[in-house]
Amino acid sequence: MTDISKPINLWEYEKLAKQHLSQMAFDYYSSGAWDEITLRDNREAFDRIKLRPRMLVDVSDRNLTTSILGQPLQLPLLIAPMAFQCLAHPEGELATALAAATAGVGMVLSTMATKSLEEVAAVGDKHNACQWFQLYIHKDPGLTQNLVERAYAAGYQALCLTVDAPILGRRERDVRNTFSLPAGLQLANITNVSGLNIPQASKESGLFTYFSQQLSPAVTWRDLEWLQSLSPLPLVIKGILRADDAVRAVEYGAKAIVVSNHGGRQLDGAIASLDALAEIVAALNGQAEVLVDGGIRRGTDILKALALGAKAVLIGRPILWGLAVVGQVGVSHIISLLKDELSVAMALSGCASIQDIDSSLLTGNRIISE
Ligand code: FNR
Ligand code: LAC
Repeated sequence: MTDISKPINLWEYEKLAKQHLSQMAFDYYSSGAWDEITLRDNREAFDRIKLRPRMLVDVSDRNLTTSILGQPLQLPLLIAPMAFQCLAHPEGELATALAAATAGVGMVLSTMATKSLEEVAAVGDKHNACQWFQLYIHKDPGLTQNLVERAYAAGYQALCLTVDAPILGRRERDVRNTFSLPAGLQLANITNVSGLNIPQASKESGLFTYFSQQLSPAVTWRDLEWLQSLSPLPLVIKGILRADDAVRAVEYGAKAIVVSNHGGRQLDGAIASLDALAEIVAALNGQAEVLVDGGIRRGTDILKALALGAKAVLIGRPILWGLAVVGQVGVSHIISLLKDELSVAMALSGCASIQDIDSSLLTGNRIISE
């Protein structure tokens, strides 16, 4: 039997986290939509890619630093926006923010956070951290405006609009569990302005009900102008899977794109985000920075994403596993495991710096610019 009490990789954290979480919380965090085809394919897409390592390069000093929208990062990593982190640990998003800030990686705070955006920003402030605010557009425009203005005032450096969730995907484990928030947890950014919270539902996920009742399924490209008039924050669009949408997003003002299928939680059967990446990078041709998320669990996955043209990656669920096991220490450990693995992968593939990671590391028709 493997001793997983001292996890040495992200997979072991997942196993351990299961023991620390209620069934409802573990199911909410881990599940994908319907048959979870896209959830699995996000992982398998990484496994399908093979590397062509370069030899006899001096890799004694490896520099993992990079930048995103002009902000420095210690490694090309941001923590993806994820709702309800206090389900994993009482410190929730505050612990995640502290771990991200001290490691010099970015964090995207969800609209659906269980700590307020002001409290999370205060943690980042002390470390000059890279923090973005993820936005869901509510039907009530005043509520959306309030969130954007508060995010700007609190010091977030970008607004990350998630566009793949006009309604919530069907996660059947949440339906089965009639997912809701335990007593004491609330939508910390929203309850205070509108009194809204996740409802108790009798035969449905309460989160699905919240989305259907409160979030707008009518958002279109035209709303981006209004959104950008609310603050000077640069706009990042998250949840793009096609080149034409990516090009359009940039035409409408986006400064960065997150290629994402929401961790397989929205449209089941959607393309793996890694498989959508090269086409989008090629179509944008440097006009915006491209990030990708979904299924990243190893340093080699980060290497592959960068070789395909991503500027940085976002990581989702493993952060929740670290949080569930030991709070901030666990999140810090997850980040350092990924950093070490990326450093080793770079050494073994002949890359001394992030700029050295290019498409020549890939095989066959994956080579897009040589
Ligand atoms: C998410 N994701 C998400 N995305 C978003 O834009 N706003 C949100 O509030 C949430 N909430 C959320 C909760 C949970 C529990 C998960 C697992 C995911 C999607 C997230 O930002 C990201 O796209 C995926 O999680 C990336 O895939 P991996 O790394 O989890 O495989
Ligand atoms: C989710 C939402 C909140 O994926 O984005 O659960």
